[in-house]
Amino acid sequence: MTLSNLTEDKTLNLNNASKEQLQQWQTALTEQYAQIKAKNLNLDLTRGKPSAEQLSLSDGLDGMLNGNYTTESGVDTRNYGGLEGIKEAREMGADILKAPVSNVYAGGNSSLTLMYQMAFIAYHFGLNGEQSAWKHEEKVTFLCPVPGYDRHFSVCEHLGINMVTVPMTSNGPDMDAVEAAIKSDSSIKGMWCVPKYSNPTGVVYCDHTVERIAKLGNIAGDNFRVFWDNAYAIHDLSDNPVVLGNIFEHCETAGTQDSVIQFASTSKVTHAGAGVAFLAASDSNLAHYKKAISFMTIGPDKTNQLRHVNFFNAVDSLHNHMKKHAAIIKPRFATVLSHLEKAFSDNDLGEWESADGGYFISFDTRAGLAKKVVALAGDAGVKLTPAGATFPYGNDPQDTNIRIAPTVPTQAQVDEAMDVFVTCVKLASVEQALAS
Ligand SMILES: Cc1ncc(COP(=O)(O)O)c(C=O)c1O
Repeated sequence: MTLSNLTEDKTLNLNNASKEQLQQWQTALTEQYAQIKAKNLNLDLTRGKPSAEQLSLSDGLDGMLNGNYTTESGVDTRNYGGLEGIKEAREMGADILKAPVSNVYAGGNSSLTLMYQMAFIAYHFGLNGEQSAWKHEEKVTFLCPVPGYDRHFSVCEHLGINMVTVPMTSNGPDMDAVEAAIKSDSSIKGMWCVPKYSNPTGVVYCDHTVERIAKLGNIAGDNFRVFWDNAYAIHDLSDNPVVLGNIFEHCETAGTQDSVIQFASTSKVTHAGAGVAFLAASDSNLAHYKKAISFMTIGPDKTNQLRHVNFFNAVDSLHNHMKKHAAIIKPRFATVLSHLEKAFSDNDLGEWESADGGYFISFDTRAGLAKKVVALAGDAGVKLTPAGATFPYGNDPQDTNIRIAPTVPTQAQVDEAMDVFVTCVKLASVEQALAS
């Protein structure tokens, strides 16, 4: 078999292949891999951050105020005060998170900071009075749908919160597993959720899942909090995006308003290091949060908040702006997906979800191969996020999951990197089949 028709060979059916056939594939793929290595590539699919082109869409923020620092409601943003953020920025957060303005806080540049603060406050000071502080519990556990976002897991590790995994399905977390875990383990006090274009699977939680999550507070009790990290709320790639169910309203219906805290930011909307972060929570949660942060700060950067508000009022609507982001990154996602389709749609060497938004595509190798694939790709000049990073404690028990982040490289670079990626998956899979 020649190299070129091997690349075109979509079947690579390892289960029915003879030893001779596997050896032929191994020889051809090893040669293909050596040719790739000889190119001395230096490509990177690790970074879930906006490309320079995307960042440039918001350069109009610079100079936006032009000496006018006062908000419509008369707040001089240069001065101290306004702990909860300016009203106009909170309105923007309310629009993104679909929650009432009175329940929204607008903060500094990072939603991860807000999540950390909220977990810290719940742990040390309690969100239902001092007696509710998680530190009084013998053990505190968070449910972590996997694969998930590594920095959520780091927050738990840093605060000494135990983590228990639940599987992700194409509709969101496996809710039977979630409810069963909560019923059987009273140490469960929280759960991480990325409900829209989940990091890394790209899954959008279905309505029924959102409704069931809103009801968890009735099973888990008053001291349980879902951290609803809606980081990709408006990051659609398709023109007809799926609409995520409204968790705030579902909680009102279920009488569980205190059980869910929502987060978002403009990190992947404007400038990732200089955006505005938002939190939406019940009156009681918000009051506890504001009381605790009043010891940490006199108020957020209101001038940056005003810059953002004016930019989206005067230069570009939020909706239009996100369409420009989609136009830049959609071809990169399409390139990843077309490589995966071509290489793996007719065999069982890998599985993936085709994301309609967000920043990632998640790929599952055959069991036991993710680390090997990442290492092979790294040696051939294509950096991938370390295998295991999408699981608590860096431990993917099946060693299958790899997160692909295609936004930073150009489309041509994504194309080249994916050629390498599929070759590495094929080579690792054939070698595993030969060894078994
Ligand atoms: C799910 C998720 N939440 C939060 C963040 C970070 O958000 P921020 O920049 O607002 O701290 C990221 C960044 O990759 C993310 O993927």
